[in-house]
Amino acid sequence: MEPELVREVLSKKFGHFEKPKSTPFTKYIFQGLLSNEGEKWAKHRRILNPAFHLDKLKLMVPAFSSSCVELIRRWNKMIPDEGYMELDVRPEVQNFTQEVISRTAFGSSYEEGRRIFQLLTEKLQLILPAFHSVYIPGYRFLPTPLNKKASQLEKEIARILRGMIEKREKVIRMGEGSNDDLLGLLLESNMKENEEHGSKFFINKEMSIEDVIEECKLFYFAGQETTSGLLTWTMILLSMYPNWQDKAREEVIQVFGKNTPDMDGLSRLKIVTMILYEVLRLYSPVANLLRKSCKTMEIGGITYPAGVIFFLPVLFIHHDTEFWGEDAKEFKPERFAEGISKASKVAGAFFPFSVGPRVCLGQNFALIEAKIGLSMILQHFCFELSPSYIHAPHNFFIVQPQHGAQLKLRKL
Ligand code: HEM
Repeated sequence: MEPELVREVLSKKFGHFEKPKSTPFTKYIFQGLLSNEGEKWAKHRRILNPAFHLDKLKLMVPAFSSSCVELIRRWNKMIPDEGYMELDVRPEVQNFTQEVISRTAFGSSYEEGRRIFQLLTEKLQLILPAFHSVYIPGYRFLPTPLNKKASQLEKEIARILRGMIEKREKVIRMGEGSNDDLLGLLLESNMKENEEHGSKFFINKEMSIEDVIEECKLFYFAGQETTSGLLTWTMILLSMYPNWQDKAREEVIQVFGKNTPDMDGLSRLKIVTMILYEVLRLYSPVANLLRKSCKTMEIGGITYPAGVIFFLPVLFIHHDTEFWGEDAKEFKPERFAEGISKASKVAGAFFPFSVGPRVCLGQNFALIEAKIGLSMILQHFCFELSPSYIHAPHNFFIVQPQHGAQLKLRKL
């Protein structure tokens, strides 16, 4: 529970702490950067990093806003001109973040990207019920009807991705097409890495085609649920605190008017940023982190042998009165008025994206996406809690509203 010690654990380079091995079940759902270790992780992180630089993310702003235009259009059709409509916004926001990943990850191959996500969702829905039962290693290789169906879906996903990668590889090789989506940037970065090692192939030594497939699938899992959780909780909290909803809208209108948000304006959104930080503090999508000691380690004056699992309670630290004051459980975005470092009584008590070498790769991506999504929603609609909303934060993979996010929406 001590932020300083948590930081110490998270900031050590590999060789000191690593992530505990994924269970066979999580491996069945996704692999890639999030669960890789050692040399493989370092290499993949180096290749993926450039795709998430701010200057590259700038190029993706139109993809973020186009996805939100779809959402606004859909709600405009559903909501009457007078009065309100009650809606569970959670699946709606999930749809938006899924759309964002499809566009930003696969750009020109957007339709195929959407198909992959449909298949991934189908696979997840199929195998998720098994999550609560005892999962036997190797079970997925048994020829049960469920496993056969899951494996068919997996083959289809890999087939589409492989086709997309090969097509894109050809286009880049011929010097055509733009590389402003995650797949293009990843292939470009992989190519540079290969060139440094004397290979003329895009997918060869550094990242195999299977590796690229796994990383593409990871964008969906790592990037979609987390950001949709953040936006959904933000809408719930702004419904509970209409004064903050008004303040945020005022700021958005002042910066963008009714125009589509641009990168320049996003950096001037002070209130919106404070609100998003406070939501990330109270309803951090990732509630805790795990690490395992690789060798004998001294942390906070205690010596731990190799193989000890460290449970780092992000959410408990975010809620602790010792670090945040007596009002720790209250929604008070003003605590972030002077930035993250001044918000808590103790330094380092806010780490929704983790810290250290394995800090979230998509942190900037998520914040840009949330700011654009929230700004555009605030420009067009106001919202309040529906009487059918039940407040029940629930941690299943991410912290989510267990019974949905029923809100009443009105056109502005
Ligand atoms: C509000 C949104 C998000 C939150 C709160 C969040 C949080 C986190 C956290 C806490 C970790 C560290 C996990 C650990 O060490 O066990 C992580 C890692 C990661 N995140 Fe995010 N994330 C968000 C959005 C995204 C997005 C949008 C993407 C990509 C499109 C992304 C990609 C990744 C990847 C690839 C890693 C693994 C990094 C590594 O191990 O080197 N995340 N995220």
